[in-house]
Amino acid sequence: MTERLKIENLYKVFAKDPARALQILASGGDKNQVFEKLGQVVGLNGVSLSVPSGAMYMVMGLSGSGKSTLARCINRLNEPSAGRILLDGQDIVPLDEAALRHVRRTRISMVFQHFALLPNKRVIENVEFGLKLRGVSAPERRRRAEEVLSVVGLARWAYHRPHELSGGMRQRVGLARALATDADILIMDEAFSALDPLIRTEMQDELLRLQSTLNKTVLFITHDFQEALKLGTRIAIMSEGRLVREGTPQSIVLEPGSEYVAAFTREVDRARLFDARSVMSEPATLWRGKDGIVVGEAAGGPGFLLDGQERVMGSVSDAQIVHARQTGEAPALEPEHVCVAGSTKLVDVARHYRPGLPIGVVDEGGKLVGVLGVAQMLARIANAPAPQDGSAP
Ligand SMILES: Nc1ncnc2c1ncn2[C@@H]1O[C@H](COP(=O)(O)OP(=O)(O)OP(=O)(O)O)[C@@H](O)[C@H]1O
Ligand SMILES: [Mg+2]
Repeated sequence: MTERLKIENLYKVFAKDPARALQILASGGDKNQVFEKLGQVVGLNGVSLSVPSGAMYMVMGLSGSGKSTLARCINRLNEPSAGRILLDGQDIVPLDEAALRHVRRTRISMVFQHFALLPNKRVIENVEFGLKLRGVSAPERRRRAEEVLSVVGLARWAYHRPHELSGGMRQRVGLARALATDADILIMDEAFSALDPLIRTEMQDELLRLQSTLNKTVLFITHDFQEALKLGTRIAIMSEGRLVREGTPQSIVLEPGSEYVAAFTREVDRARLFDARSVMSEPATLWRGKDGIVVGEAAGGPGFLLDGQERVMGSVSDAQIVHARQTGEAPALEPEHVCVAGSTKLVDVARHYRPGLPIGVVDEGGKLVGVLGVAQMLARIANAPAPQDGSAP
């Protein structure tokens, strides 16, 4: 994947002359030390991250950790004190006003928490607003606005005024306005945080649906870890202006790396977060004959008979494997078996589980790529260390 947005060593100090603060930070000082020594507030302290094209990149952290400052720097609503912001490889920090205006109108769209709609304009005119600024002709503006309003499910409301809409609908108008500009980067700062829970869930699903067809690069800011897990392909966690952890949702919950991050992960529903691939182990060869090989968990138990292309032909019971090992005879095959894709969440793996049958992980071609132990899955869901010998304590 190509890198759409790359941030290198970005600093923001809210001060006319940040030189001394930057010195303190460069020599290892933190936000508190700068405030104690100079009375200046640090918004960002050396943030580096890179957002691949098409990512749903979540920025998460407690209040005051610097999330909005980061979003505003990318758009240069906040002037960075030091560092680089590369859009498709071009640094936008040195751009002059005119060039910057162009970037804001064509490359980056923002959606805020409290989205300000023009109260006297109709919904459709609000959506057209960004296009008008870009000098798009009136008929083309109207066509585009109608299109995105139907994308967000508001076609029927195009000629109403904002006060006739609910909060959730108004937020959708904000989203439509951002989508209308065709900018490939969408920055959403707590865009759903003010919505009540049901509408919020609906908007999250809507965004996921939109993303699957529009394939924008989204930088989504939230203080809600559950939201970050649900929407994110990657999550960056901020604290005191620093980026303290970055990775995929599964990797962050698996290895938080600090108490600050671990605190967010405690209430996570692990059965719905972790997938089969994250728990599976390498299949061990349990028996080999001229008709194929039987593989399974290293600890034993039932296994799978594989053909020459490592595709699953069926399962073999524990007793059959023992018998085959003792006699060298081919084990009897049972056609019933349970196989799932690597991306299957553990909660769904559990639904497929059948006592006495092994659980395999297969690729699109039906090739076995891993085996799942029940004890390992339970340990992962319970956030306990995985049993090494495959047997539950
Ligand atoms: N214009 C400003 N002038 C001075 N300090 C500011 C300014 N904007 C933000 N800050 C400070 O920068 C730090 C980061 O603020 P920011 O708004 O980025 O946090 P946030 O993570 O978005 O928090 P929240 O979750 O509450 O929105 C805070 O200490 C804040 O007080
Ligand atoms: Mg904020």
